[in-house]
Amino acid sequence: MNKYIRFILPLTIAATACHSEQPVATMKEHFKNDFLIGAAVPVDHVNGLDPRADSIVTMHFNAIVAENCMKSEKINPAEGVYFWDDADAFVDYGERNGMAVIGHTLIWHSQLAPWFACDSAGNYVSAYVLRERMRNYIHTMVSRYKGRIKGWDVVNEAILDDGSYRQSPFYDILGEEFIPLAFEYAHEADPDAELYINDFSMSCPGKRDRYVKIVNDLRDRGLRIDGIGMQAHIGMDYPKIDEFEKSIVAFGNTGVQVMITEWDITVLPTVFTGANVGDIVQLDEKYNPYPEGLPEEVSRAWNERAAQWIDLFKRHSDVISRVSLWGTYDGMSWRNDWPMTGRTDYPLPFDRDYRLKPAFANELLSKN
Ligand code: G3I
Repeated sequence: MNKYIRFILPLTIAATACHSEQPVATMKEHFKNDFLIGAAVPVDHVNGLDPRADSIVTMHFNAIVAENCMKSEKINPAEGVYFWDDADAFVDYGERNGMAVIGHTLIWHSQLAPWFACDSAGNYVSAYVLRERMRNYIHTMVSRYKGRIKGWDVVNEAILDDGSYRQSPFYDILGEEFIPLAFEYAHEADPDAELYINDFSMSCPGKRDRYVKIVNDLRDRGLRIDGIGMQAHIGMDYPKIDEFEKSIVAFGNTGVQVMITEWDITVLPTVFTGANVGDIVQLDEKYNPYPEGLPEEVSRAWNERAAQWIDLFKRHSDVISRVSLWGTYDGMSWRNDWPMTGRTDYPLPFDRDYRLKPAFANELLSKN
């Protein structure tokens, strides 16, 4: 049977499964002996504003991570002011559905609340003040959900591709110590919560080596660290799968869990803006080649690439404890608006009609 026919048949079956309550294979059932299978969830899913996405999440996933509602800018926009409604609803939703709930993210330079590292004149605060603010913030967040959050992304995106530390308010003021401090404070607040360090471009050799050092250093100091999160925002031709695999192996060899935390595969051309998620440029149609739908050959290539990565993750299921997609269906992906607003991307397992794509449908039909 040629590849195209092989794709069409299971797609029909799986599509039916997604639109009905029929007891057919689900991702969480299929991967249950391999790893948790998770999704980033925006508040719209939780609040019932996107019921079809909600059905996908509850049917297929057994882990959820907060896409935005736990970021400091959202939850603690001014000193002493907390906006809990969305995060509370997110945690309730995960509990109600028996899912592992992942907190994202405590210490991150991006989407950082403007007050966090600055005084009223806009200058950096002292090391002492920043340590106290970090302690207060982490204690407040982690204690509120004590016993309800399986694990926290404690530090996010701290390292550059070459392995050097990213310049951020945390690094500028506290140097490398901000990482162990964050882990110490999180563990004080909930000694049973798992604690993770998370980053993108984890296939880069410099980053790989640095994270192995960081994990070993944290453990040498007697601090708790449970896992390394590999974001996996990948494209059709980057990164090289064998370089990514080297990082899975190197991280697994440290003895902590490896997690694929933010998986998606863009088909769109790269628009260079720098690495900051805040750097957004206006739509230019020449960088938006598929506004009306994905040509068959591109769709086929996407599914082939997705299948290769599923195989990779399964091959390393001895060290990979969770694979989380950064979203569920194409229409809701951050990729449509970054780094250029208003593009049409196709990065997730479910399409804009909430149908499971062939790579995943075929996987569910295969014997595991
Ligand atoms: O909620 C406001 C809305 O009120 C406003 O009208 C609109 C206009 O721009 O913005 C909305 O907020 C946006 C928010 O997503 C919710 O959609 C922010 O501008 C936008 O910057 C924000 O982007 C998020 C981004 O992180 C920055 O926090 C993406 O949704 C989210 O998927 C992305 O997730 C990150 C991970 O946390 C860390 N790793 C990389 C990953 C992808 O960038």
